[in-house]
Amino acid sequence: MSALDTSSTGVHTSLSPKAVRDAVWPVMREQASALEPTLARICSYHLGFADEHGDPSSAPSGKLTRSALMTAAAAGVGLRPQDVRCQAAALELLHNSTLIHDDIIDGDELRRGRPAAWKVFGIGPAILAGDALQALGLRMVVDDPGPGRAEVLSVFAEALALVLAGQARELTVRLGPGTGVAEYDRIVTEKTSALLQCALVTPALRAGSPQRVLDALRGAGRHLGLAFQILNDVEDIWGDPSVTGKPVRSDLLRRNPSLPVLAALSADQPAAERLRRLWHADGTTAAHLQEMADLVTESGGRHTAEQLSRGHLDSALDYLGRAELSPAASAELTALFDRIVHRTP
Ligand code: IPE
Ligand code: MG
Repeated sequence: MSALDTSSTGVHTSLSPKAVRDAVWPVMREQASALEPTLARICSYHLGFADEHGDPSSAPSGKLTRSALMTAAAAGVGLRPQDVRCQAAALELLHNSTLIHDDIIDGDELRRGRPAAWKVFGIGPAILAGDALQALGLRMVVDDPGPGRAEVLSVFAEALALVLAGQARELTVRLGPGTGVAEYDRIVTEKTSALLQCALVTPALRAGSPQRVLDALRGAGRHLGLAFQILNDVEDIWGDPSVTGKPVRSDLLRRNPSLPVLAALSADQPAAERLRRLWHADGTTAAHLQEMADLVTESGGRHTAEQLSRGHLDSALDYLGRAELSPAASAELTALFDRIVHRTP
């Protein structure tokens, strides 16, 4: 299928993952390469276009989840892929800016199986590279003409502001036993759902869809983000770093209370009591982390997290069903939501 295919009936079809990549990737590459040379080098490294010396590379470059969502949602409201190509590329750049900064904040040394940008280029330059991607992403939305431009720009700026608020809240709010999941939900709705909502809503804004459609898409994106982040938290503890490309047990090491831990800490069981003691002690060896992981499982934290993630995926699909998208796009997004949450290719 070509990147710009429409069906013979005139109904716009969405694209295979490869076609989304072929459409969006060159735009991201061209834009990032045109930054000031130091910034271009760091961004090209982070995005996987280049190695640390600036030589071409075919390193893993992310799944382009947000572009795929935006492209499928575009088909659902009768737009062509090229109607949102620039916005899809811009959103991927914003997302990557938050990852560059997130690895600095988390002290994580590995991203997509390679040293994180800050480990290679230093914290100061990596902060600037992340900032540069944010400015670039917003600039691309400003510069692209077309219907709904002001509304789309406003949604992009708002989504970015929410990610920053969620990241800040995660650093400052002390989640712990008794906090419940409400505060966690708020943080994740900001730090994770905001960009997914932006992906789903942007085409509807361009197409001039009614408020009820926008609300349904926002609801879908909110729950999709929660379903995704909760399994991301599960993956942090039990995932295989050779598959995730990220350090294992970084949340436990930093005592960042992810959902499985939050659920376990609140459980009324001897294993939870032992976990609470370890959580507040300063053990950071692999054996300490393994014991904590085992206690989270024993206290039911993993099971609760997996159940909650499933519930949020169901809610996301309910909202999607109310968004009045074309049946083909709806089916495509249903499959895509599942792949995003369960990280299947
Ligand atoms: C990152 O959250 C979310 C952002 C807004 C960047 P996490 O810290 O949980 O994600 P990973 O595990 O580093 O990708
Ligand atoms: Mg992180």
